[in-house]
Amino acid sequence: MKSIVILISGRGSNMEAIVHACQQESWPARIAAVISNKADASGLRFAASHGIATAVVDHKAFTSREAFDAELAKVIDGFSPDVVVLAGFMRILTEGFVRHYDGRLLNIHPSLLPAFPGLHTHQRAIEAGCKLAGATVHFVTPELDHGPIVMQAAVPVLAGDTADTLSSRVLAQEHHIYPQSVRWLVEGRLSLSEGVVQQLEGLPQVRWGG
Ligand code: GRF
Repeated sequence: MKSIVILISGRGSNMEAIVHACQQESWPARIAAVISNKADASGLRFAASHGIATAVVDHKAFTSREAFDAELAKVIDGFSPDVVVLAGFMRILTEGFVRHYDGRLLNIHPSLLPAFPGLHTHQRAIEAGCKLAGATVHFVTPELDHGPIVMQAAVPVLAGDTADTLSSRVLAQEHHIYPQSVRWLVEGRLSLSEGVVQQLEGLPQVRWGG
């Protein structure tokens, strides 16, 4: 049985989707813990109500990123995770932290990377006149919102879309591709070579949410 640790900073809807998929699809894995840098992250309540261990490592209590990341890694490693999942975890991580979890650290970003790394992705996609938007699950590398792509979901940008309406359309797809990607990783069904991720059975690593 593999162990998964999920890091959140807020509502944790992707974390919920992963918890539900893990339970309903009987993955050979358990969610060992949900950890947040914010004590008031609403996702912590969901995790606790599902019998999942929770922890808070408040970044404001540390004077440097290195000190915060060192404590965070200590708490994470206390749960001996095979896979660590960033699900709306709003902290920039140090290179040392990222390297420590090399090959077992996933993130989801609400754009079709490499377009629009960083914040305000939906507003930027609308302002750029994009006809497609989406989300990307990727292995984490030291460069922000960068790294080998596991899955992408695309949705249309519709006339009259606001950042909120586009965000909702993308988020619905995130809740499909993130659990799928985490499951493939815990089941050893991904290969990573020269920065390219392949699903070993050739299953589609793309999803259309139009
Ligand atoms: C999602 O849009 C995700 O792509 C981004 O942060 C948001 C987190 O939402 N990294 P939630 O906390 O999972 O609901």
